[in-house]
Amino acid sequence: MKILIIHGVNLNMLGERETDIYGSETLEDINAKIKNVATENNTTVSFFQSNTESEIIDKIHSAGKTVDGLIINPAAHTHYSYALRDALACIKIPKIEVHISNVYTRESFRHHSVTAASCNGQITGLGSNGYILALQWLLMTKNA
Ligand code: DQA
Repeated sequence: MKILIIHGVNLNMLGERETDIYGSETLEDINAKIKNVATENNTTVSFFQSNTESEIIDKIHSAGKTVDGLIINPAAHTHYSYALRDALACIKIPKIEVHISNVYTRESFRHHSVTAASCNGQITGLGSNGYILALQWLLMTKNA
């Protein structure tokens, strides 16, 4: 099984960005943690981070043809990018949206996700473990 993890805008700054909210793990730390669990489960993971909406959209389109599942943290685009929402709707593979922080306990503009409806589900507020739970769900889906 091949899984792609897309990290959206500003997530390259994890580890130094608002650590009271996002914790001290860097993106590299999180990716290493995901990769360990994937390897234990004979699963191939690839990672993509971009601060550019069009690059993320192109990556989503290609994921539909190249991988079996997608985990995406659309970051701030979650709350307003209909383009990203439509890109996710274009592809038929299982997709899950992850947020490190609990967006529902934060500013009201974060309470609405325009992208989640194009995904199978959403995990929010469980820190970097949310990515691991998303991976486990994709593995369950594969074995169902
Ligand atoms: C985030 C939550 C978003 O509201 C925010 O814009 C982010 C990160 C999270 O992982 O908690 O950049 O997606």
